[in-house]
Amino acid sequence: MTIAVKIKNLSVTLSGDVKALKDISMELPVGRSIGFIGPSGAGKTTLIRSIVGRLKPTAGSIEVLGLPAGDAKLRDQLSYMTQELSVYPDLTVKENLRYFAIMMGHTKDTNTIIEEVLNEVDMIDKADSLVKNLSGGQKQRVSLSVALIGSPRLMVLDEPTIGLDPVLRESLWKLFNKLKTRGTTLLISSHSMDEAERCDDLILIRSGKVIAHGSPSELKKQTGTKTIEESFLSLVGGEPE
Ligand SMILES: Nc1ncnc2c1ncn2[C@@H]1O[C@H](COP(=O)(O)OP(=O)(O)OP(=O)(O)O)[C@@H](O)[C@H]1O
Ligand SMILES: [Mg+2]
Repeated sequence: MTIAVKIKNLSVTLSGDVKALKDISMELPVGRSIGFIGPSGAGKTTLIRSIVGRLKPTAGSIEVLGLPAGDAKLRDQLSYMTQELSVYPDLTVKENLRYFAIMMGHTKDTNTIIEEVLNEVDMIDKADSLVKNLSGGQKQRVSLSVALIGSPRLMVLDEPTIGLDPVLRESLWKLFNKLKTRGTTLLISSHSMDEAERCDDLILIRSGKVIAHGSPSELKKQTGTKTIEESFLSLVGGEPE
């Protein structure tokens, strides 16, 4: 399989008749890091929720790893880190991970799994801390470690590095690149343009529409600019929304 996600003519209308996604199509290849980049309210989370099967499209279709989005068989092949914290503050880091590992059907060797994923995010020393007593960036890393359980083929991460310092951000990108070498596909949303430069491919989203799709260097070449931020501004070009 070479295509991880295939989206055809997807539209999503949310309550209040908000047209959050408007007829978007894309094919995302396996084994790459793909950034969904766009301003706040552009539709990144809506697109992510549609891909992971939490939102039903109003029109169009989504195929994930060869199956329809939301198919039960995708449960152990796909992980989703939400934009809001999704771990339990009154449990310790380890207790959270054990809970999620069991929920995902890993009943044996949970200690080994927990140790592995905590090592990946450099949080072993906080294994017995209550999540509510951790810093924002540490909580973020616990959420990410949950998404690493079971070595999913596709990881969908909504703003995974927001609120992290540059050193931690660097180490997470190292981890993302390591995961990619194992064939994992990463979908990462961000509104940070410098983060966009680290992705293999970018989908620039604005007002529910895809305004560009390509590698950072392709987009910069296409627009004759030096940074993705400039490319984005050039593509938007003062058009009304
Ligand atoms: N549950 C909802 N009901 C109605 N409208 C919603 C809902 N969630 C989001 N929207 C609207 O849909 C549009 C897209 O929102 P979305 O959350 O996908 O944006 P985003 O790109 O993820 O933004 P951010 O960078 O702030 O996370 C926005 O106009 C938002 O107000
Ligand atoms: Mg969002």
